[in-house]
Amino acid sequence: MSLPSIELFKQRFFDYSKRYQDIIDSDKFGALTHKIRHTERVLAVAEHIAQSIKLDGDLYLGAQSSALFHDCGRFEQYKQFKTFADRQSVDHGDLGVKIIREENFLAGLPDKLAESVIFAVSVHNKRMIPESDDKDGILFAQITRDADKLDILDFLSDYYVKRKAGLINPVYELFMEDKPEISESLCRSLLAGECGKYSDAKTLNDFKLTQIGLFYDINFPASFKITLEKKHLDMLLDSLPHEQFPVIKEIYGKVLNHAKSRAIL
Ligand SMILES: [Fe+2]
Repeated sequence: MSLPSIELFKQRFFDYSKRYQDIIDSDKFGALTHKIRHTERVLAVAEHIAQSIKLDGDLYLGAQSSALFHDCGRFEQYKQFKTFADRQSVDHGDLGVKIIREENFLAGLPDKLAESVIFAVSVHNKRMIPESDDKDGILFAQITRDADKLDILDFLSDYYVKRKAGLINPVYELFMEDKPEISESLCRSLLAGECGKYSDAKTLNDFKLTQIGLFYDINFPASFKITLEKKHLDMLLDSLPHEQFPVIKEIYGKVLNHAKSRAIL
């Protein structure tokens, strides 16, 4: 059986997104437009990572499909709840799986491969990838999660620079309060080499710290190489009050060493 092309799947994704055109056009935050652009970039980075580990054939298409559909639950989530905060609305990974099945987005893929893609979409936003016998699903999830994180880091590190010039969009920062405080428990987690919990993030500074924590959940050397080249960590440090809270510098040093050691094959 010949495999469908990623172009066909892209067509299905963009046709689906057009059903939300009213919201796309009227939303003053541009939230769904932002997610469509995010999806395009995540797909491109996932392709780069997949090539770096020499994936081809059905595994390459599986990695592409996981990246393409990873956030398809965002449209319905935003339509119904006007937020991307899962804790205040719905788990958008699980919702994405429901949409993929209802819309038959993966029609044409062999069943086993389709289930691995669905696994990757369902876990792309979970704290950790759960144990599973689906080795391909785990691989697709790791690639999607890395590409997703790299795009978040790319976007937000740039946004924090613009934010200093007054360009504030509360959607991007999940409406977190901009107070001169940082969470001690979050700092402890990051110093212990853990990602830190989103539920510990109470302020915008904490939200930025959770982005530093993402570095502990990056999988592939190609991904570490990208983030080091783009200096995401330095941009995050610059956006945080590290003079006032010296622990931030300590966390930065630890995370930077981790990234450098993992960027080498
Ligand atoms: Fe997502």
